[in-house]
Amino acid sequence: MGVRVDSVSAVQTRRVVVIVPAAGSGERLGAGMPKALALLAGEPLLVHAVRSLVADPRIGLVVLATPDGLEESMAELAAAHAGAAPVVAIAGGATRAESVSRALAVVPDDFDVVLVHDAARCLVPAQVVGAVIDAVLAGAQAVVPGAPVVDTIREVEDSGGSHTLDRAALRAVQTPQGFPLAVLRRAHARGDAAATDDAGMVEALGLPVVLVPGHARAFKVTTAQDLVLAEAILAGEAELAGEAEL
Ligand code: CTP
Ligand code: MG
Repeated sequence: MGVRVDSVSAVQTRRVVVIVPAAGSGERLGAGMPKALALLAGEPLLVHAVRSLVADPRIGLVVLATPDGLEESMAELAAAHAGAAPVVAIAGGATRAESVSRALAVVPDDFDVVLVHDAARCLVPAQVVGAVIDAVLAGAQAVVPGAPVVDTIREVEDSGGSHTLDRAALRAVQTPQGFPLAVLRRAHARGDAAATDDAGMVEALGLPVVLVPGHARAFKVTTAQDLVLAEAILAGEAELAGEAEL
């Protein structure tokens, strides 16, 4: 009995959908517009984020959660930089978790893997995106990039005192976070008010969360200072590329 060609290609081209929460107002950045539309090196953060994601050819669909009323314009903007991946957009909710839930509701069931990636982490390197997808395809139920913590962290006690945590054992969590699609659907259906990210919601189901190495470039643009840092990173890279051409 031969192997059917269509079943072979279905295995080889495991399909990945990426949800991009981009519905936040960007209060702390204070750009006077939704943060995903703030400009970095002349282009909106959303464009940088989408371009970083679709560099991985396994991504077959981008689902944006946008501020109410901006669905169409932001989908068009993203689509112009999404290569072969189609882009759809829905209006996000009052919280990031609600924005992700609404996006999940429009994801077709024929995707194997779902990534959730903040538009605000617009310079995430391709190797981080690839490592998260690889780990989910290898069987993980939840995957997060984790970066070493540089500050000494103290935990505040109820008594008013505090103690230092072992920094070597701590990781700062970044995105994209990756899951089998059915697992993230289950986590969102159950919900968990205490969880601050999608991996936390999956953890509340009793499933383990796998770490892959994060990267300094996957930092989240939150304040005006972060935007200056992002500009400097891109300017430094452009200069290096220019020198390489000489
Ligand atoms: N986000 C979302 N829906 C919300 C809130 C946030 O989709 N209701 C998205 C943001 O657009 C961002 C990511 O979640 O890409 C991380 O949120 P954050 O960095 O807090 O962005 P904002 O909420 O826009 O910023 P701020 O909290 O300063 O207003
Ligand atoms: Mg916010």
